[in-house]
Amino acid sequence: MRQVKPDILEVGAIDWDRRLFDEIIPLPDGTSYNAYLIKGSEKIALVDTVDPTKTETLLTNLAEAGVERIDYLVSNHAEQDHSGSIPDVLELFPDAKVVTNEKCKNMLIDLLSIDEQKFIVIEDGQELSLGNKTLKFIFTPWVHWPETISTYLVEDKILFSCDFFGSHLAAGELFVKDKPRVYETAKRYYAEIMMPFRGLIVKNLEKLKNLKIEIIAPSHGQVYDEPKFIIDAYKQWISDVVENKVIIAYVSMHGSTRKTVEYLVSALIAKGIAVLQFDLVGADIGKLAIESVDAAGIVLASPTFLGGAHPAAAYAAFLVNALRPKIKYLAIIGSFGWGGRMVEQLKGLLANSKAELFEPLLIKGEPKNEDFRKLDELAEKIASKHKELKK
Ligand code: FEO
Repeated sequence: MRQVKPDILEVGAIDWDRRLFDEIIPLPDGTSYNAYLIKGSEKIALVDTVDPTKTETLLTNLAEAGVERIDYLVSNHAEQDHSGSIPDVLELFPDAKVVTNEKCKNMLIDLLSIDEQKFIVIEDGQELSLGNKTLKFIFTPWVHWPETISTYLVEDKILFSCDFFGSHLAAGELFVKDKPRVYETAKRYYAEIMMPFRGLIVKNLEKLKNLKIEIIAPSHGQVYDEPKFIIDAYKQWISDVVENKVIIAYVSMHGSTRKTVEYLVSALIAKGIAVLQFDLVGADIGKLAIESVDAAGIVLASPTFLGGAHPAAAYAAFLVNALRPKIKYLAIIGSFGWGGRMVEQLKGLLANSKAELFEPLLIKGEPKNEDFRKLDELAEKIASKHKELKK
C-alpha cells in the first residue's frame, strides 16, 4: 500500500516476476496492477482492481487501509488485469456499485459474469461526488480497448488513466524518479499496447489538453508527478516524425541471408544511418517493437523455407502488421535455392501497413558481386528516403 496523497492510496499489487503479458509480450521489468482507493468525506471509491493472480494482495491492502465499505468501484477498462478482482471485491463489499460506461459494463458481464444490477452506467464527462472530492469520467477509447475511460479527480487534479501512459515496470517507489528507465519501459508499453491506435491517441491527448493535470496515475508502472514528462514522450511517439533509423530483422538458416544482411547493414552504417539488426531467432520482440516506434523503415530478411517464408520472419511480419508502426518504407530481402513464395507470403502478412514497399531483393544461394551491387542500390535508396524524410 502506497500513498499518492492523503486519503488517496495505491492499494494494488506489484508483479515482480511476471515475464509475459497476453502470453506474447515480454516483461523484462515485471509489471504492476495499480488500484487506487479514494476516501471522500461521504463516499469511498476504488479505481480499478488487479489481475486475478494478485487478488489476495489487493484485499490485504484494503484491510490494512481500514476500509469498511466501498461505495463505488470504478472500472476504467474491462481487461482482466484491472477487472479480474472485481467479483471478489463485490463479494466482500456487496453494497458497492461498479461505475463504468455501457460498453465496459457489457464486457464485464461477458468476461466476469457480474450481475447487471451491480452497475452504475456513466456518460462521457459525467461527474460523481464523493463529498469533498469529485470524480469526472472522460471517455478515452482504444487505450487500449474500445471501452476504456480515464477518471479525473477534480479537486486533486489527478488523472487515473489505467493503461494509457502506463509502463510495464515493477518498482517499490510509487513516483517516477529514474526517468530514462521509465521512458524506456513506457515506450515498450506504448509500442506493444498503444501504437496500433496511434490516430486515436492523438484524439485522446487532444481531449485531455484542457484538463489541469498535476499527477497521472496509470494502472501499470509508476505514477507521474511531472505529467509533462510522459505527455511529451507520447506526443513525440504519436507524431509523424521518424528518426534516421532502420530496423533489419532477419533469420538465416545456412548463412546466405545473414551475409546479405551484414553487407546491407555495413553499407547503411557507412551512409550515416542508425541500424538496429535483430536476429529473429531469440530476439527480444519487445525491443524490436520499441525501435519500431520511431524507425523510418524496416527491412525484413528471410530465407526460403519449405517453399515460403521462414516462420520466424512470418511471425515478425505478422507483428509489424498488427502493431502498425509509423514506418515510411518496408523492404523484403532474402535468399532462395530453387524458387518459392516467400515474398508473396510476407507481403500478404503485411497487408495493413501503409508504408511504401520497396522492390524485393532475392538472392539465389549466397550473395555474389551482382547481388552486392543490388544491395548497394538498396542502401542508396534507403539513404535517399531518409534524406527526403528529413526535409
Ligand atoms: Fe492493462 Fe489493457 O490492460
